[in-house]
Amino acid sequence: MAALKGVSVALFALFGGALVGFAAAADPDPLVDFVPVDALGDAQFKFALGNSTGIVGPGGQIQPANVINFPALTSQGQSLVRFNLRPCGQNPPHTHPRASEVIFLISGGPLLVGFVDTTGIPHLNALMPGDVTVFPRGLVHFQQNFGTENAIYIAGLNSQNPGVQPMFTALGAFPAPVLATALNTSVANLTLTALPKNGAPPLGSAASGCVPGSLPPGIRV
Ligand SMILES: *[C@@H]1O[C@H](CO)[C@@H](O)[C@H](O)[C@H]1NC(C)=O
Ligand SMILES: *[C@@H]1O[C@H](CO)[C@@H](O)[C@H](O)[C@H]1NC(C)=O
Ligand SMILES: *[C@@H]1O[C@H](CO)[C@@H](O)[C@H](O)[C@H]1NC(C)=O
Repeated sequence: MAALKGVSVALFALFGGALVGFAAAADPDPLVDFVPVDALGDAQFKFALGNSTGIVGPGGQIQPANVINFPALTSQGQSLVRFNLRPCGQNPPHTHPRASEVIFLISGGPLLVGFVDTTGIPHLNALMPGDVTVFPRGLVHFQQNFGTENAIYIAGLNSQNPGVQPMFTALGAFPAPVLATALNTSVANLTLTALPKNGAPPLGSAASGCVPGSLPPGIRV
């Protein structure tokens, strides 16, 4: 009996440990030094993050460097994004299913950043140059520039391909009666055209009520 109990404890430790390990894992460890892109030679290890245009919207510019446009990141478990948001520019609420994210504000600010945890509580901060924040993996988050100058910042993510799921694009993809039910309204009252359909370009203008140089009430640097 004692021996059986010992076996089950050992099995539990083994499988419990494996499950915990699985749940905590990000990208797998590298199996090779790097995956060569023969046509590029050593140029494969360089990417003009600061001189590329990336995704441009009314709120500014977002330039990712991930395994899709920078294949040298293959199996390295990380990627970067450079942001240049105009005053009032917003990187709209979204999630990364495969990565946590850190952000470093280089210039501009205050940059309002925040995420909502799984109990529905928002966690907001206003960053000034030199400040860093973190968005835990999978949680909905955003950034918006409440400064009077462009906000330039870098994000680091612990996946070669973090994935981006813009929240409102995702909701707008469901059939109207599904979305109307979820929002506790009628189909007629849905303003679906207001939901961005194609990804999450930087949005934002004074028309949304943002005043450059003035943080929303209750938020301080
Ligand atoms: C890239 O941008 C930096 C400033 O952001 C500039 O100094 C540099 O000349 C640019 N390089 C190229 C190749 O355009
Ligand atoms: C849904 O809306 C109705 C009014 O249209 C309201 O009475 C009800 O409390 C709402 N339900 C939720 C869950 O908010
Ligand atoms: C739709 O909008 C109208 C006008 O704002 C409002 O009176 C009505 O309650 C809304 N219907 C639902 C189901 O929310």
